[in-house]
Amino acid sequence: MDKKIIVANWKMNPASVGDAVALARKIERAAAAHLRAEVVVAPPAVFLTPVARVLKKAALGAQNVFWEQAGPYTGEMSPAQMKNIGVSHVIVGHSERRENLGETDEMVHRKIAAVAGAGMAAILCIGERHRAGADMPAEVGAQLKGALSGLKKSFVKNVIVCYEPVWAISTTFGARPATADDALRAAVYVRKIIGAVFGPAAGRTARVIYGGSVNAKNVASFLGLGGMDGALVGSASLDEKELSAIVRRAAAEK
Ligand code: PGA
Repeated sequence: MDKKIIVANWKMNPASVGDAVALARKIERAAAAHLRAEVVVAPPAVFLTPVARVLKKAALGAQNVFWEQAGPYTGEMSPAQMKNIGVSHVIVGHSERRENLGETDEMVHRKIAAVAGAGMAAILCIGERHRAGADMPAEVGAQLKGALSGLKKSFVKNVIVCYEPVWAISTTFGARPATADDALRAAVYVRKIIGAVFGPAAGRTARVIYGGSVNAKNVASFLGLGGMDGALVGSASLDEKELSAIVRRAAAEK
């Protein structure tokens, strides 16, 4: 049985390198105490190197990457550069980037191919914008196909799909977490699409996680679902106690 994966997405927090390193140390302690969970810490890019120095059991994640390996791309960072400083996971296609920076499925596709090509794992975020059951298959299906169609089949194992409905992200106005039923329905659908594009075995073995207002209280309801491999945690990942409790819970899952 694979370990459950907990991804701490710090977004554009905290404000200082000192705070980032202090928080990373605490999360590392939780990861070392609960080796049955796989923990990924994704700080802002400016803090990747200092955070890398304190992580041993927890893995280092980036929140973004560019798809080219080198060249005239002001402000961007390549997969090879990321890997060189110890990054093993890259969050790709987060709804905040799609919304604020115009990231398209085509860009997301290129990033995933580049990340997988560099031997890292891409955490592909997808999810419908509004809470209306009917939107999920259409939006999630289009995002998934746009991001994954044409990807080398051997790269699919490098993709972790995070179902993260925008309406459930804690900073969305009026947010509330998805129900376990919502998450399960989406996870089943994600596997079905991956199975249709890359074959049934790929659909079965794909790693699918949930994101959106995950906290220590509700994480068990998601991790306990058959076929749910973990969680992407935003706000609660900035609170050492919350995240430690989430990691403990993930390690206890069979
Ligand atoms: P949240 O954020 O846990 O604060 O809802 C999750 C995310 O957007 O990655």
